[in-house]
Amino acid sequence: MDTKIRKTDSSFINMKYIKEAGEIIKNGGLVAFPTETVYGLGADALKEEAAKKIYEAKGRPSDNPLIIHIARYEDLNKITKEIPEKAKTLAQAFWPGPLTMIFKKSDIVPMGTTGGLETVAVRMPVHPVALSLIRESGGYVAAPSANTSGRPSPTLAAHVIEDLKGKINMVLDGGEVEIGLESTIVDMSTSVPVLLRPGYITKGMIEELIGEIEIDKTLITGVSGRDRPKAPGMMYKHYAPDAELTIVEGTEENVVCKINELIEQKSREGKKVGVIAAKETAFRYQGGIVKSIGSRNDEASIARQLYRILREFNDLDVAFIYTETFKTPRMGHAIMNRLLKAAGYQVIKV
Ligand code: TXA
Ligand code: MG
Repeated sequence: MDTKIRKTDSSFINMKYIKEAGEIIKNGGLVAFPTETVYGLGADALKEEAAKKIYEAKGRPSDNPLIIHIARYEDLNKITKEIPEKAKTLAQAFWPGPLTMIFKKSDIVPMGTTGGLETVAVRMPVHPVALSLIRESGGYVAAPSANTSGRPSPTLAAHVIEDLKGKINMVLDGGEVEIGLESTIVDMSTSVPVLLRPGYITKGMIEELIGEIEIDKTLITGVSGRDRPKAPGMMYKHYAPDAELTIVEGTEENVVCKINELIEQKSREGKKVGVIAAKETAFRYQGGIVKSIGSRNDEASIARQLYRILREFNDLDVAFIYTETFKTPRMGHAIMNRLLKAAGYQVIKV
């Protein structure tokens, strides 16, 4: 399949391209597009056949449900059975924006979109390209992150092209995304809402508005034994670079010392090593390929650059990556959640 690539600025949207993309989705095709979190791979959410194509293109297990993206709050009624008061409050505060909520689904939503579940995940993105595309596509766009299943989510159109060229109809290139980590997911279909995936909108920001919420246990412990995450997608190995990634946790001195020791050891064995470090400590590593992810005082930069750096290390063919921890005040929960998953929960404590 020939994949069309169309550049469109977020400040000056090229409506000709958006309409062309909307037609593709209305006709059952696939279009990748920028959102404020990561690039999404869009298809008509209400057509089972179209949703199926998403799974094929991504190589994604078909029991992993998709998020439906809408552009108008009223459109939520058609795809849900009921909208709890607390969800209305959160929508008012955070939509459009990087928050996904889970509802009991209405009959119109095909099981092919929800991975066989009776619930549906919904989000209204704030990115202008995403919003106009959703409007031109009929209002309901199912979109997972536009990466090959298991790889880091795309924060640039180039990442989408790397993974999906030839498998999808079009990529709308809107430049680098703003946030760089996927949306926060909260299950609103239970009596007490549950945080299933941390993101830019934090647990604290949500609780300030609707009171205490629960947190999916597997978010803290990782998937082990009988525990299954409620968001099926959180179960799979995710965001993973080809190299073996290990998190090194402890005081700054101990971490620097340990990573330097590991660099030396692996280099002696003839293995190529990568390091992910804050700007403040990057210069302290000797040998290996060191990538600065940004200042510890600039967590937005850390979040935005994480997936790009993981992909860059793939291109550099490193065998091992060691990373510092980034437990920053606001986004730290989300950043560490993605890092832990990318590392398969491999942590060295020093
Ligand atoms: O920021 C985002 O949310 C991006 C952009 C494109 O909007 N999308 C995204 O989609 O991250 P995806 O498919 O990569 O991740 C969706 C997650 C998966 O872990 C999936 O299992 C979970 O949401 N999910 C979807 N529907 C669900 C449902 N009904 N119940 C529980 N989890 C659900
Ligand atoms: Mg994904």
